[in-house]
Amino acid sequence: MPDILITENIRGAAVDALAKQFDVSIQPDLWRDAAELAKQASEARALIIRNQTQMNAELLAACKKLIVVGRAGVGLDNVDVAAATKAGVLITSTPDQNAISVAELALGMMLSLARFLPAGDADTKAGNWNRMRFLGTELYGKTLGIVGAGKIGFLTARRAQAFGMKVLAYDPFISRDNIHLFELNAELVSLEELLSRSDVVSCHLPSTPQTAKLLNADCFARMKPNATFINTSRGEVVDEDALLHALQSKTIAGAALDVRAVEPPVTSELEKLPNVLLMPHVGALTREAQDRVTVAVCEDVARVLEGKPALNAVNRV
Ligand code: MLT
Repeated sequence: MPDILITENIRGAAVDALAKQFDVSIQPDLWRDAAELAKQASEARALIIRNQTQMNAELLAACKKLIVVGRAGVGLDNVDVAAATKAGVLITSTPDQNAISVAELALGMMLSLARFLPAGDADTKAGNWNRMRFLGTELYGKTLGIVGAGKIGFLTARRAQAFGMKVLAYDPFISRDNIHLFELNAELVSLEELLSRSDVVSCHLPSTPQTAKLLNADCFARMKPNATFINTSRGEVVDEDALLHALQSKTIAGAALDVRAVEPPVTSELEKLPNVLLMPHVGALTREAQDRVTVAVCEDVARVLEGKPALNAVNRV
């Protein structure tokens, strides 16, 4: 039985290095079979997971020797942190390593919506030359509303400022003297004010009971009719039916979603709308981010197994 079980597709030089020090088993598809996963995890001292492995109380109970779970990524919606803490299992994550990639995707989505890039590409490849159909708007001088002003929201806003955008931020967990807001010269406002003043609303929220469907029909109704909505965080924070209705009724001008309430999503009318840009949860999927994430998660798991403190512990045990 291995010391370290990797239950999803996580590879690279850092994993190879870890395998020189510990007995490592890499099983990219193990997360798909809960019974087999529980069996193989029973003797492991560490698990390394991404966002598919459901690290719940049931799996924790099957793990007799588990000391640490390394989450290669930032979201913890697939990890029952409270149950892990109760079981004495340390959770570590890689909070900063993929933030730049997600921020760059959010910027790409802003530009794509403002200049109709996917629709223009499809139309031109279909043999058309409809220049006036793709009359766009500039980001310059527009207002970006960041919902969730953590690291990714901050990096997104900083990049948007390079395009000459003004920044508003909503985040109930930070105060007006927050260093990020200061650096951005951003205004901290209520969610309602952000929605009514922004030309682009970009979501950077974790999925928690408090954020579930936070972006609902009332929110979309408050947005400007020419505003666009971007979500690169978690699908659960958006009421997708309300978003669909807002797009169909032209309450808002467009949306770009990298994440969905259910992944892979159940096909909906969203897929048919021309003013929607959809991606399959690829925000963190760049070579650079994945390299950094893998190095960070392997380093922390090795540290814990060697009896050293974790650098990015999520809980205390
Ligand atoms: C994250 O939470 O780090 C990203 O959404 C990617 C992932 O879940 O692996």
